[in-house]
Amino acid sequence: MPECDFTPPAYKGPSLDECLEIRKANLFPGLVTFYKKPVLIHQGHKQWLFDHTGKRYLDFFAGIVTVSLGHAHEATTKALKDQADVLWHTTSIYPHPQIHQYAKELTDRMPGNLKVCMFFSSGTEANDLAVYLSRIHTGAYDVISLRNGYHGAGGTPWGLTATSVYRHVTPTGFGIHHAMNPDVFRGPWGGQSCRDSPSQAQRSCRCAPGECAASDKYADQLKDLMMHSTPKRIAGFFAEPIQGVGGTVQMPKGFLKKAADLVRERGGLVITDEVQTGFGRTGTHFWGFESHGIIPDIVTMAKGMGNGYPLAALVTTPEIASSLSKAVHFTTFGGSPLACAVGRSVLKAMDAEKTQDNCHKVGTYLLEQLMGLQREFPTWIGDVRGKGLMVGVEMVNGQGSIEKGSGRTCSIEPIPPQIMADIWEHTKDMGLLLGKGGVHGNVFRIKPPMCVTKQDVDFAISVFREAIKMSLPRL
Ligand SMILES: Cc1ncc(COP(=O)(O)O)c(C=O)c1O
Repeated sequence: MPECDFTPPAYKGPSLDECLEIRKANLFPGLVTFYKKPVLIHQGHKQWLFDHTGKRYLDFFAGIVTVSLGHAHEATTKALKDQADVLWHTTSIYPHPQIHQYAKELTDRMPGNLKVCMFFSSGTEANDLAVYLSRIHTGAYDVISLRNGYHGAGGTPWGLTATSVYRHVTPTGFGIHHAMNPDVFRGPWGGQSCRDSPSQAQRSCRCAPGECAASDKYADQLKDLMMHSTPKRIAGFFAEPIQGVGGTVQMPKGFLKKAADLVRERGGLVITDEVQTGFGRTGTHFWGFESHGIIPDIVTMAKGMGNGYPLAALVTTPEIASSLSKAVHFTTFGGSPLACAVGRSVLKAMDAEKTQDNCHKVGTYLLEQLMGLQREFPTWIGDVRGKGLMVGVEMVNGQGSIEKGSGRTCSIEPIPPQIMADIWEHTKDMGLLLGKGGVHGNVFRIKPPMCVTKQDVDFAISVFREAIKMSLPRL
């Protein structure tokens, strides 16, 4: 394990068993914990987390893609403390300085006329307003999102989220339709040059350089949905530039641009959800939409923007925002002095520490190393994908059959859940915390704090290799 110059003080709180008992008695049972034996985390430092026994873990999931700069980051902690000494809360009815300075600094990072913002405490709230705003502004009602997408588990975004694990028996999202997901590994179409990534699907195709037949086919599916299920005019279309919770699924190049054209032809607004992809995580750009060659009408963001402090925003054009002026709109905590002070210090630290650049360099190295691992286990590691420090590794059943005519070199049957769970548990035991996701729960999600190094990657790869070897059936 790479060196760490920090040792936490001994843990003195309630035991893990006590916490689990309280959890069982006093928290909602639907709140899942990771791992067979959960880890009680009580302290963090940069890319490291410490449990109650003092054991150190390399954090490759960053509190679900949220701790962007690193745990207990010095400058952001100082900004929070400094602001806490002065003023915690006023609401936006008084023009305290932080919200104004932050609004300017944040929107300065946006292209085109995306110049006005509204702050919240969670991504779900930002997406909720995005749906509402698209309807108020266009006068239309129907909204489209992509299957396998995640946009929040509450309010209207619950309806945008299109994964069965987040669905209950009650209907959500009236007027929301889910288009076929352009997944070039698992979907019907895809090939070996579809992705904006160093790692492509192991799948043959006949596309000439610069062409992508898969992106046309998936765009046709969107057109088909609009032909059959929506009125001639729609309110909006939501997409994550790279799907996060769904298992780091990347659209084929050109798809989002084609989708945006189709949506705008029908009067709809294009909304990109940058809750996971924003703030430089994808390495080449600050915002995920920039690598798709589009400027959206509305952008939503959260998670990494506060390095773990509850902070979210919606950014749009003055014209679209003005549609909401016909009645009062307000949130109590959005844009609080504390949140804005943290948000400003996060932006500043991202520049000073060149985190986007690090995402590109270390992320590309990580992808190359994972591609090497895939060559070692070609029938079990079905797909390696992503960009920057937003990476997914889809595990498949090495003993499953390969669909004829699919052009794939492995089965897409998910790895048996027990083997997946064993690999995951072993990585944790060896000191590596990975995320997990995808509709079948068979994708390792790797989205660490943006300060990780190549040495961290080398350690993670050796742990991952060992865990796979320990878990696969003896053949
Ligand atoms: C892409 C995306 N959008 C929206 C959300 C919802 O954000 P929050 O959990 O802050 O409400 C999430 C959360 O995981 C997300 O990944």
